[in-house]
Amino acid sequence: MPQRKLFVTTALPYANGKFHIGHIMEYIQADIWVRHQRMQGSQVHFVCADDAHGAPIMIAADKAGKTPQAFVAEIAAGRKPYLDGFHIAFDNWHSTDAPENHELAQAIYRDLKVNGLVSSKTIEQFFDPQKNMFLPDRFIKGECPNCHAKDQYGDNCEVCGKVYSPTDLINPYSALSGATPVLKSSEHFFFKLSDPRCLDFLRQWTTSGAVQPEVLNKITEWLTPDSEGKVAMGDWDISRDAPYFGIEIPDAPGKYFYVWLDAPVGYLASLKNHLGKVGVDYDRYIADPQVEQVHFIGKDIITFHTLFWPAMLHFSGRKVPNKVFVHGFLTVNNGEKMSKSRGTGLDPLKYLSLAMNPEWLRYYLAAKLNGRNEDIDFNPEDFMARVNSDLVGKYVNIASRAVKFIEGGKLVSSQVEPEATELAQSVQGLFESRDYARALREVMAYADKVNTRFDTAAPWKLVKEGQGGEAAIVCSDCLQAFKVMTACLKPVMPELAAQAEAFLKCGPLDWSNAAQALPVGHRIGEYKHLMQRVDAKQLDALFEAAPEAAPAAATPGGEELAPPITIDDFAKVDLRIAKIVECKAVEGSTKLLQLTLDAGEGRMRNVFSGIASAYKPEQLVGKLTVLVANLAPRKMKFGVSEGMVLAASHGDEKANPGIFVLEPTSGATPGLRVR
Ligand code: MSP
Ligand code: ZN
Repeated sequence: MPQRKLFVTTALPYANGKFHIGHIMEYIQADIWVRHQRMQGSQVHFVCADDAHGAPIMIAADKAGKTPQAFVAEIAAGRKPYLDGFHIAFDNWHSTDAPENHELAQAIYRDLKVNGLVSSKTIEQFFDPQKNMFLPDRFIKGECPNCHAKDQYGDNCEVCGKVYSPTDLINPYSALSGATPVLKSSEHFFFKLSDPRCLDFLRQWTTSGAVQPEVLNKITEWLTPDSEGKVAMGDWDISRDAPYFGIEIPDAPGKYFYVWLDAPVGYLASLKNHLGKVGVDYDRYIADPQVEQVHFIGKDIITFHTLFWPAMLHFSGRKVPNKVFVHGFLTVNNGEKMSKSRGTGLDPLKYLSLAMNPEWLRYYLAAKLNGRNEDIDFNPEDFMARVNSDLVGKYVNIASRAVKFIEGGKLVSSQVEPEATELAQSVQGLFESRDYARALREVMAYADKVNTRFDTAAPWKLVKEGQGGEAAIVCSDCLQAFKVMTACLKPVMPELAAQAEAFLKCGPLDWSNAAQALPVGHRIGEYKHLMQRVDAKQLDALFEAAPEAAPAAATPGGEELAPPITIDDFAKVDLRIAKIVECKAVEGSTKLLQLTLDAGEGRMRNVFSGIASAYKPEQLVGKLTVLVANLAPRKMKFGVSEGMVLAASHGDEKANPGIFVLEPTSGATPGLRVR
């Protein structure tokens, strides 16, 4: 097979939270495919990045009192332990906020515009007059126009399932401030996906073999004309108004790309950044018609990747994806929803911290994944059974039993049976089509046969009967089979394979040497146990509830009680009465107020407080409140904050907006300690 050139990506995770097990599953699926490709000599660049932009991240950063840049940088800094821990070998991890992405997204937009595929239109949208921003649909709530359920989101009702637009809501309110949103018009830019050129191209691309049949079924709906000759595909709104964390649209001050416009461009940005580091010319590489561009994604983001993204690339004169591989969703314990206090599914870092072998998880997920976009479930009993009885009980078992009868570590037969050669060929093809489940079934079925042959030959008996030479032949054959199986498992379990290679002293296995026999007289290395079994206790610990908190029914204010502390713990917090001498809005923040406080110290303190949604500055001036006076000063975007004022709020602030600053009863004076 000629050496293939592959550019492989996984979806770029939103930089607003840590990885969950669903992300790890996607990376493992892609990583296995990439390792398989490398074993057949393909040249692969495998990249990913954080998806940094968008309103939700901007709002989350604001809530945390951080700049969006600092907020996403913190998330990015936490990625490595997961990736290293599960042997996910991306060549590069980048960010959609990086300069390469700004440049590429703007260049693609300019090219689309030159091609006549960008239009503009004035549209009306809900605007939060208190926060001074347009509200994304999920930040508008109100009463469902259909079933009158309260507190429903702006796009659909979770009670009756009706889909509507935010303007249909009865008594709408902003989930950010609680304010009643007003309709405001603004100019938006659209990518003209309903242009006949786009529809023609997409009909052709989607049927070119780039997507799985079940995916094609789903997306054809968008492109097929109805009885009146109309298609569902409409133009795509690709702009958002400031304030927005994103990439500025060229020649359109105050307008930013909608996050889904620049997110997939992040694939190219990460590739470009990576190629820069390894000294390969990006423009040359990406123009090479032999390069195959492959995206691994989940089924929730199909339309972005199989309609919008190929069209963006094609009509900006760029290479289009060759394959979009869609997987289903991973659930844990049959999707059983777990409450916070009973643990939240399968936490990947907790898994690693319990010293559970990452390759158990890789093996288990691979054993469940096929090339279709079906959902799969993590079931603890099933996990333990597959790892212990298949992986350890069948595959590892062969080596640990056979090695005992190889005298002096010298192989005495060099036979790889035709069945093993066929196995390697078949498994190679199954990895190619991402049917890992079947690949592993075939390996285990072969392991069964080898184990049976070993049992039938009973080398321990042969030795007793003085036929040690015969036993050594049987066991040499078993080890030759073990070597082929090791190659077959290598994409899934690279560490285990490396240990097995060291034991066999066979050098790195790949698809070209997988079924080559080790020669007679080959000396193998010392056998060290290759893999532990899963201990049920580990699984118990993995899914063990967090320390028992107050039961769900008794969560005052919508928030569980914090763990108990002693009076000494409490005494560490120095609380003082302080007078709010001055109070101002903070330019550039919708969340913060700047307070000047007198805590009886003969100097003023500057404190930023996230209470702007609840108070106008003049409402607070002159009031007394409670200050956390010994909190280490904190540098924020707008200056240094020297303490914190106390305020009450609901655990779920979105559903129950409202912040209440504490105020002492009359007679208190600045500087008094609160104890
Ligand atoms: N930021 C977008 C993707 C932009 S790609 C240019 C996004 N991010 S995400 O963090 O929500 O999801 C990232 C990937 O994880 C997606 O492919 C998604 O399908 C996948 N998964 C999220 N939950 C999952 C499971 N429970 N199971 C398997 N994959 C899941 O979407
Ligand atoms: Zn409803």
